[in-house]
Amino acid sequence: MAESMLGLKRSHRCAELSTAQIGQNVTVMGWVQKSRNKGGIIFVDLRDRSGILQIIFEEQDCGAENFAKAEKLRSEFVVAVTGRVEARSGAVNENLATGAIEVRADGLRILSESETPPFPIEENSKTKEELRLKYRFLDLRRPDMQRNLLLRSRIAILTRQFLAQEGFLEIETPTLIKSTPEGARDYLVPSRVHPGSFYALPQSPQLFKQLLMCSGYDRYFQLARCYRDEDLRADRQPEFTQIDMELSFVDVDDVLDVNERLLYKLFKEILDIEIPQPIPRMTWQEAMDRFGSDKPDLRFGMELKDVSDVVKNCGFAVFKGALEQGGTVRGINVKGQGGMPRKKIDALVEYARGFGAKGLAYAAIQEDGSCKSSFSKFMTQEEMGALTAAMDAEPGDLLLFAADKRKVVWDVLGNLRLELARQLDLLKNDEFCFLWVTEFPLLEYSEEQDRYVAMHHPFTMPMEEDWHLIDSDPGAVRAKAYDIVLNGTELGGGSVRIHQSDIQSKMFEVLGFTPEKAQEQFGFLLEAFKYGVPPHAGLAYGLDRVVMLMGGCDNIREVIAFPKVKDASCLMTEAPTPVDVKQLEELGIEVSGKEGQQA
Ligand code: AMO
Ligand code: AMP
Repeated sequence: MAESMLGLKRSHRCAELSTAQIGQNVTVMGWVQKSRNKGGIIFVDLRDRSGILQIIFEEQDCGAENFAKAEKLRSEFVVAVTGRVEARSGAVNENLATGAIEVRADGLRILSESETPPFPIEENSKTKEELRLKYRFLDLRRPDMQRNLLLRSRIAILTRQFLAQEGFLEIETPTLIKSTPEGARDYLVPSRVHPGSFYALPQSPQLFKQLLMCSGYDRYFQLARCYRDEDLRADRQPEFTQIDMELSFVDVDDVLDVNERLLYKLFKEILDIEIPQPIPRMTWQEAMDRFGSDKPDLRFGMELKDVSDVVKNCGFAVFKGALEQGGTVRGINVKGQGGMPRKKIDALVEYARGFGAKGLAYAAIQEDGSCKSSFSKFMTQEEMGALTAAMDAEPGDLLLFAADKRKVVWDVLGNLRLELARQLDLLKNDEFCFLWVTEFPLLEYSEEQDRYVAMHHPFTMPMEEDWHLIDSDPGAVRAKAYDIVLNGTELGGGSVRIHQSDIQSKMFEVLGFTPEKAQEQFGFLLEAFKYGVPPHAGLAYGLDRVVMLMGGCDNIREVIAFPKVKDASCLMTEAPTPVDVKQLEELGIEVSGKEGQQA
């Protein structure tokens, strides 16, 4: 039977006790981690969010009734214990913060009992993730999950403190907003009052924060919930949190500066790591050319080399053909992997095909200087010599080449580089390589939509020096856009915004909006811009990604209390679920197909 807490007040969390409290009477409360009955003496490990404390029950101290209760304790029972802190009678447990002490109980209340949990509540659980997520409330009791959420809370609090000190105001923006088609797919919310009309959940507070700049708030921030109906991956959730900010009367350097100081503070205070100030910068073009990625992982080298010039007249039709069609030939040098078995190389070729490669040409330089290669038979010795020299190849190296359109080659080699780093164990979780990637292209051609789309969003400012190319060569116009990248993950991104209506109108035109359509979608913003708009710029981090990387996790689900799985469902609540027909009728909604409706 559950007892009450009446008359008892917790004096300490379990792991707040140490040898400093020896001799004190304390009251602790928590969950039974485990209980061992050694005849006349019962040892209980008591757990709360601070850690574990050993309790000792002996009938002579706690009385017969309490001892009988202690005999009934099972894992996950919730108890309150009163007693005295003593030095450990047995051997000191070095693995425990409280390993030098124990509490000799004189009182025990069982506050609630527990069924046997479906998996053990312990660190480094081997339990399948589905089961953990179904019983997330139990999973969250585990020390690693508690550490992750504690870290998340500290990051959020430090961020708030820092931005407040820097003169930012925390302002909330609505989460029932107007749907705008740019970007990812919106989550829609039907309106009861306006049948057939829908709100969208925000993909980000972008337009509202720009309006706040128009309203003179100068420096805004928000820990904002965002919603995107897109395919999920390890670093993507349908709902996630941004550290979102916007500043007036600033340019690129001002935004980068305040964010470098924010990141410095977070890493210093939380991990005691001093990250470089300023954080290195690289243009998008350089990042793509050297790493085949706009979010390069700089923890290792293996850079891409353009060998198009070297092979342009060679006898290998694959290389020559790609070049003749306006493509490029580039390679990476996997140092010391010349002995890689053929089977593993074949697997790499398959991996490359997954990213659109038609094949992957390889040359394994043997210790005696000879070469095992898929294409050397098509090349003269001089051509091969020139190619290996261009790749700085030494005996024992493995060279991998892709020949194709520039975009395909970047993607193939960029991903291959990461795959090899994983296979060769080059990626350390406790090494942090930051990078600003700047000067992104303003526009990106979408084959699917047969038009240019904004690479960041339609409000991003083009670079002044490129603006004259907007009609003749739109793809060549660079933007005042930047991403903050950490270890190959895009932590955040932002841009200077357009604040001139002529540039904004032109931008909409290039994106294929008629003036009427632009007015219909973004009229409120265009209207606001008529009444005095300051130059402004901003940035947003994915908070979940920041916590994931700082915590050394490889999935953002590990740092979100109640995350969703790949198909965007919640295994615990089983959301989304069909709803009552009556609810749908009120909304004027009819669902085609039966599965969406409940009688
Ligand atoms: P962007 O779309 O680049 O920019 O998003 C900013 C950051 O949000 C994080 N993020 C996500 N995290 C988890 N799950 C997702 N599905 C997800 N999508 C994005 C990333 C990303 O870098 N309004 C602009 C910012 C600005 O211009 O100020 C924006 O939203 O870490
Ligand atoms: P093939 O002559 O088609 O048998 O190809 C010879 C070698 O070139 C094989 O190792 C292929 O994997 C490789 N290869 C084919 N297409 C490409 C390409 N686009 N880029 C790089 N290597 C390729």
